[in-house]
Amino acid sequence: MLKEKMLNALNEQINAEQYSALLYLAMSAWFHDKGLPGFANWMYIQYQEEMTHANKLFTYVVDRGEKPVLKAIDQMPVEWDGIIEIYEATLQHEQHVTSLIDDLVDVAIEVKDHATQSFLQWFVDEQVEEEANVTEILDNLKLIDGQGNGIFMMDREMRTRTFVDETVTK
Ligand code: FEO
Repeated sequence: MLKEKMLNALNEQINAEQYSALLYLAMSAWFHDKGLPGFANWMYIQYQEEMTHANKLFTYVVDRGEKPVLKAIDQMPVEWDGIIEIYEATLQHEQHVTSLIDDLVDVAIEVKDHATQSFLQWFVDEQVEEEANVTEILDNLKLIDGQGNGIFMMDREMRTRTFVDETVTK
């Protein structure tokens, strides 16, 4: 059983993670359209990861004997001005998600839900990693400064990223 305020907040976060997933899927489509399959692959894996985040929350709500309530997902952007802009938008989005997770932890503390507070620690740690990964890519992109050779090399590297369901491996 979960307190109503906690349940509502967790349901909101399921929606937010699903939005994140579709945002990155839209970014993957953008990269495919620009002829950059490596970056598209990186974003597609990002999409898969976000779905595992949503599903981890979904399963937790079920495990606590409650019903997850799924809601409509807002329209995500589908166009960006360039590669740096898309990764700046990604970093901004992850920073926003970090603030949402922090708010969730605040609710858990407020309603004295220690189990949920403990459960959410995984997301707190995950956000540190997510922001660091995107920042590193953004730094590399700024270093390359739109040069064709550098973008080509980065695209090849991005192609090697593979999906690992970290909700079960860590
Ligand atoms: Fe589920 Fe990228 O945060």
